Amino acid sequence: MLCTCSSNNSSFQSGEKADSFVVTTPLYYVNAPPHMGSAYTTIAADAIARFQRLLGKRVIFITGTDEHGEKIATAASAQGSTPSEHCDVISQAYKMLWKDLDIAYDKFLRTTDPKHEAIVKEFYSRVLANDDIYRADYEGLYCVNCEEYKDEKELLENNCCPTHLKPCISRREDNYFFALSKYQKSLEETLAQNPEFVQPSYRLNEVQGWVKSGLKDFSISRASVDWGIPVPNDNKQTIYVWFDALLGYMSALLEDKEQPSLQNAVSSGWPPSLHLIGKDILRFHAVYWPAMLMSAGLPLPKKVFGHGFLTKDGMKMGKSLGNTIEPNELVHKFGPDAVRYFFLREVEFGNDGDYSEERFINIVNAHLANTIGNLLNRTLGLLKKNCESTLVVDSTIAVEGQDFKDTVEKLVEKARIHYENLSLSSACEAVQEIGNAGNAYMDKRQPWSLFKQGGDASEAAAKDLVIILETMRIIAIALSPIAPSLCRRIYAQLGYSEDEFNNLNWSETKWGGLKGGQVMAQPKPVFARIEQAKETENAGEAAKKVVKKKEKKPQVQKVVEA
Ligand code: MSP
Repeated sequence: MLCTCSSNNSSFQSGEKADSFVVTTPLYYVNAPPHMGSAYTTIAADAIARFQRLLGKRVIFITGTDEHGEKIATAASAQGSTPSEHCDVISQAYKMLWKDLDIAYDKFLRTTDPKHEAIVKEFYSRVLANDDIYRADYEGLYCVNCEEYKDEKELLENNCCPTHLKPCISRREDNYFFALSKYQKSLEETLAQNPEFVQPSYRLNEVQGWVKSGLKDFSISRASVDWGIPVPNDNKQTIYVWFDALLGYMSALLEDKEQPSLQNAVSSGWPPSLHLIGKDILRFHAVYWPAMLMSAGLPLPKKVFGHGFLTKDGMKMGKSLGNTIEPNELVHKFGPDAVRYFFLREVEFGNDGDYSEERFINIVNAHLANTIGNLLNRTLGLLKKNCESTLVVDSTIAVEGQDFKDTVEKLVEKARIHYENLSLSSACEAVQEIGNAGNAYMDKRQPWSLFKQGGDASEAAAKDLVIILETMRIIAIALSPIAPSLCRRIYAQLGYSEDEFNNLNWSETKWGGLKGGQVMAQPKPVFARIEQAKETENAGEAAKKVVKKKEKKPQVQKVVEA
């Protein structure tokens, strides 16, 4: 765990336990309904949370919505709604999408929740008591979409924000400021001593660069925005939306009926093991947030991972360019497993990745329908025809004298290490290789011909089926963080109950789970192949391939709003 690294007031009892794993997604802005870009972070977080649960960790998976600030107030008024009605609608849209995508979060925090307001106020008071808040006049260029004052140096022509491609507005305000500059040295030390704190490593370099170039105090209140949490002792100002939202990670930890205090939040699981975010909000999470925590005397999160962008035509997918992929449409058309699998498998976690429907269909059909679904289905078909759907021997006996078991176990271990390292695409690939090994084994052994020969050959064929079904059992566990519904169906086909699936542990990926005498279900396809429309509406578009871009160093992106 990282040290508190600060100040005169670290009096909190951390809630961190050796077997706990707290993971967060960003709290999503409710200016517009979710698009595939926002769904991407949540799918990844869910896969990581599910993997950690398989390891037996006590997982708290936090997500939610960021509901205050100018951007939200403007979006509500454009819809003719009050901010609070607007927030209710959009926040519900997020919850519904998460349900459709099989997202099993533990906490959903809305920043308009009164318990959150209490936490923000207490935190603000602690920072104030630490002498880190002062009042000053500020004049600068503000990007409403980022909700951030910008440094002129980082702007494009006409003072355009490089993320949203819109001109920043000149503003002058009398605000409260947070003394970020005081934490320059502590941040430098924290980053140097904990190279794992910011990942991937190329993002750490970026963060170190920002810190090195000199940290400036930033304003943490707005005089011109009503839709927010009032500054304690000054009702004319509201707390800056980022200073408010980051604390959502902490207030989310509170139990429903619990007194909303920082101490209670902290003892329920602070600090988190992992903040999962997109690269556009790295500065807030890896610079502002740790400094704020240091000031309040609270432990820092253990890791901040900044993933890349989903792009279309090389541009960040976002509402203002109208180049988003509608996640509801995708999930209703192809189902949650296909959507989750495609984005986690095809986009190397950390890098950007482009979407094309043709690529989506090809990948999902090849990996989930053919390699996995078909292997299970044809094996169960043969077992039904030749062995009354019953396993003839234990899987350990079936595999005696063969190195196939070692191949599978090595690949499972590979998958485990990749999951641990958040290399989700490589974890999928390792599981896929297990499927490939199973298919190659079937093709080599051809049990369907062995059954025809009868006698010893037929006995050997029956053992081959046990081997493949054991392989499928292992795949179902190892792929369950990525494609939970599909794996649940595989597990049911192998004759297990829903409860058995829900209580799985990663240690059960060890060879030997299936026992002789176990009766399999009737073969029924677990993943329907997606039939590709002959005439795509936009053939040129569909022909594009997913481009995996290796990011060696941070690039200035021509990107648009989330
Ligand atoms: N409200 C803030 C976060 C506050 S956290 C205390 C915010 N919200 S957001 O809705 O704009 O973005 C949420 C997340 O979605 C960010 O991590 C962002 O990177 C991610 N994405 C938005 N568009 C994206 C893509 N096109 N691709 C991948 N992820 C992107 O920022």
